[in-house]
Amino acid sequence: MILKGLAYIKGGLKNRYIEIQDGKILSVGSSRPSDTDIFEWDGVILPAGIDLHVHFRDPGDTTKEDFYTGTLSAAFGGVTTVLDMPNNHPPTDTAKRLKDKLRAVGKKACVDFGLYGMVGKDSLKMSELTTHFKVYMSSTTGVQGGYHKKTVADLLARGCDVAFHCEDPDRFGEPGDNLPGYNEQRPSESEVSAIRSLIDLPDGNKRVCHVSTRKSMELARKASCVVEVTPHHLVLSEEALLGPFGKVNPPLRGIDEQYELWEAFERGEIDVLTSDHAPHLLEEKDVEFREAPAGLPGVETMYPLMLNYISLGKISLSTVVKAIAERPGELLGLKKGRIAEGYYADIILIDFREVENIQAERLHSKAGWTPYDNFRAIFPRHVISRGEFVVRDREFVGKRGYGEYVTGVT
Ligand code: DOR
Ligand code: ZN
Ligand code: ZN
Repeated sequence: MILKGLAYIKGGLKNRYIEIQDGKILSVGSSRPSDTDIFEWDGVILPAGIDLHVHFRDPGDTTKEDFYTGTLSAAFGGVTTVLDMPNNHPPTDTAKRLKDKLRAVGKKACVDFGLYGMVGKDSLKMSELTTHFKVYMSSTTGVQGGYHKKTVADLLARGCDVAFHCEDPDRFGEPGDNLPGYNEQRPSESEVSAIRSLIDLPDGNKRVCHVSTRKSMELARKASCVVEVTPHHLVLSEEALLGPFGKVNPPLRGIDEQYELWEAFERGEIDVLTSDHAPHLLEEKDVEFREAPAGLPGVETMYPLMLNYISLGKISLSTVVKAIAERPGELLGLKKGRIAEGYYADIILIDFREVENIQAERLHSKAGWTPYDNFRAIFPRHVISRGEFVVRDREFVGKRGYGEYVTGVT
């Protein structure tokens, strides 16, 4: 197949023919190849998103999400590679559990995926199956938190990457009953304190997840960590009228902090955007604030929200593509995240004129709600994963089990 249109190549939009064969990009050129199977696109051709932080709840909580609905939701949002977190029930903290999870979710995945192991006693054995690890420094959904520095050091020495959920429980305050109260309960100082403790870890591929303030960002850099930020910390604050639906760890911060984070994003200081897609059901969230679980769905809305901000001139296309595709691809060490020769043909076709309001009923997560109700967004019209359409004309045309385990140890 050949795609023809205005494609994002090396930092800019250029009219190109993109030749795809065996799931990869064979060539990108300006003259018409002899092949007649040409798909001409009148909009913009972009690399598909790579989301390094999702919770697809499989195994253990498949009423909230499973690997099929999670990856389906990803596909509709223009994300064709996801990395799934290990806070399952039971947690993915042994080689056996990781193997079982891989076998089970592989049959359901519609897009490519990787799996995190939870740092713990069995980490080194798990590192034969995955190179991605997660540390929870405090309790959060399904985990108690805590870790041994020695284990992390061993994993880093083996070339594994380690992602940290940074909150220091010693800095937590009294339980809050609304979003500002929750921000005080798990304050930004607790994040700062947790990140500070990473400074003496050995060098290696370390990442601070969902950084929520500029100060945390600066400290994460000091600790030689990759900086990850979520759309919710960029576009929502404790002032959002979401009640328990806005409850997330780390919490939504004040409007000034949110704005500073956005400015840092504009300056290109955020390495990776991830959704931290953490679905809980509508009925689980629609309860007293204190009873509600923390977490928001977001894998399907991340890229579409950002595409709308691009069209409004609030952020540049290159900043978004870098954080949503290029850098995550580099961090995975995969030929993904760019439209270039030799790369996987993971591509989205969008039309900047197709702006719509986000509506929960049109999304595909089992969560059944979104914190971005009525936000403007641009969803991809077509999504291509390894050279195959998985979404065509806004319809799913992919297959359960098509997704490959791409980030494993080979
Ligand atoms: O709010 C959160 N929800 N933060 C996390 O770290 C976990 C996540 C979840 O799995 O629900
Ligand atoms: Zn987290
Ligand atoms: Zn998370």
